[in-house]
Amino acid sequence: MAIWNLGSINADMVYAMPHLPTAGETLSASGLEQFLGGKGANMSVAAVRAGSTVYHIGAVGPEGAWAVERLTEYGVDTRRIARVEVPTGHAIIAVEQAGENQIILFPGANRAITGDQINSALSGASADDILVFQNETNQQAEAAKQAKDLGLRVAYAAAPFEAEAVQAVLPYLDILFLNEVEAEQLSQATGKAPQDLVVADVIVTLGAKGARHFDGRTGEVLEVPALPVTPVDTTGAGDTFTGYVLSGLDLGLPMPQAMAQAARAGALMVMRHGTADVIPDQKEVQEAQF
Ligand code: RIB
Repeated sequence: MAIWNLGSINADMVYAMPHLPTAGETLSASGLEQFLGGKGANMSVAAVRAGSTVYHIGAVGPEGAWAVERLTEYGVDTRRIARVEVPTGHAIIAVEQAGENQIILFPGANRAITGDQINSALSGASADDILVFQNETNQQAEAAKQAKDLGLRVAYAAAPFEAEAVQAVLPYLDILFLNEVEAEQLSQATGKAPQDLVVADVIVTLGAKGARHFDGRTGEVLEVPALPVTPVDTTGAGDTFTGYVLSGLDLGLPMPQAMAQAARAGALMVMRHGTADVIPDQKEVQEAQF
């Protein structure tokens, strides 16, 4: 059992802001920190810290060795990360005092992944593994199709949301993660509510209201409450939740338990500033008092 993650790798430049800038506004930040990030890297680190074996499939540019080294140091298998001649992806992240954010993404090397790289990486996967990907790389549909053909469970976190990107991979999906806004956008694009999609497990995160699981096999709906915490930075919390849910499933937990532990991990994450580097590990998640 393992998780294969076709995922972005970014340098996150995180600016502490008095409020999120509006159009035309010039605004000074009160602080700047750099983290390892990217929805993909965040999910890889979360799943590793939750106890899974994770193979990251991605790409960095000539100046991206630090990111690969850091992922390796955190326990992610980085042998399927390519070095390409396109700059490493980065994100400019404004975070305001209540923890809300605004993100500008430069995809860079994240969109320079080749079909050969996917073929070669997934040739090492087994049928009881999981493939996860997000909408920050190229090669998404190719990887989803190949993983499905190989018998893997295919999971997609539909962020950043693009209706066309979701529709291109929908036929291959076993697990779909959406937030509330993305679920509404997908409903508008497809004419179907989350429970009507032909996907075995649809998970909709609801921020401070928790998360909801739609079981496509039984029609059951499971509500998982959020923990009562005061957020300082919501960046990467959704990625942490996704990584923890997938790791739970990978390690044999039933969905309710996988989501409950993921909710605890997400709650810890919103109380921290930063992204991949500060994702809590299993021990912290189990011992946390809320
Ligand atoms: O979800 C948070 C992530 O989105 C950040 O780490 C940033 O890199 C962007 O990919």
